[in-house]
Amino acid sequence: MDIYIETERLILRPVLDTDLKGMFEMDSDPEVHKYLGNKPIKTKEEAQEAINYIKKQYQERGIGRWAVVNKDTKEFMGWSGIKLNTKKESYNPNFSNFYDVGYRFIKRYWGKGYATESGKAAIDYAFKTMKLETVYAITEMGNDASHNTLIKIGLDYVEDYIFEIEDQKFDLRWYKIEKE
Ligand SMILES: CC(C)(COP(=O)(O)OP(=O)(O)OC[C@H]1O[C@@H](n2cnc3c(N)ncnc32)[C@H](O)[C@@H]1OP(=O)(O)O)[C@@H](O)C(=O)NCCC(=O)NCCS
Repeated sequence: MDIYIETERLILRPVLDTDLKGMFEMDSDPEVHKYLGNKPIKTKEEAQEAINYIKKQYQERGIGRWAVVNKDTKEFMGWSGIKLNTKKESYNPNFSNFYDVGYRFIKRYWGKGYATESGKAAIDYAFKTMKLETVYAITEMGNDASHNTLIKIGLDYVEDYIFEIEDQKFDLRWYKIEKE
């Protein structure tokens, strides 16, 4: 995946092995995982697995979430971007093989507009570079930060639905944006 996007305050680039420390800080935090199934990771190995999984998507699907880096300090702050969801990952029984926009940040970087800024760049890339017609998104009910971000980057709320997987049951919300 060859990506380098600059926004006002951010650089979006591929996720790298050197992002391990930041990925671990982010994904081991229970607050970050509150609306993501409540399963924060416990080890650096799991953080490396998450990185490997994203890198594999770049190779196999030509797209995956990007690292979001502070333009001035070059610090890894989280990830954001477009993902192709296979049937196994789709979190919607009626939908598979769709592109969605998503983001996740280390807690100390929340509330600064980074999800909005990176999400807008991702939507722009989806329509202008990838030439997609529609981009979707999913949040868990109650995840107001994510809901508000999606609305700010231009998605429309579509409907709520219940999704069950293994021992977990999720109240989810479905969103979409179409190319103008
Ligand atoms: C969701 C998340 C990425 C938002 O990132 P962020 O950079 O803090 O979001 P922004 O600063 O761009 O905020 C976007 C909008 O949401 C609002 N918002 C942010 N946090 C909020 C909160 N806790 N409750 C309600 N609204 C909130 C902001 O005020 C802003 O709207 P405004 O400009 O009208 O005020 C971040 O909270 C996160 O990483 N959460 C954990 C992972 C997660 O849940 N990811 C989404 C899964 S679907």
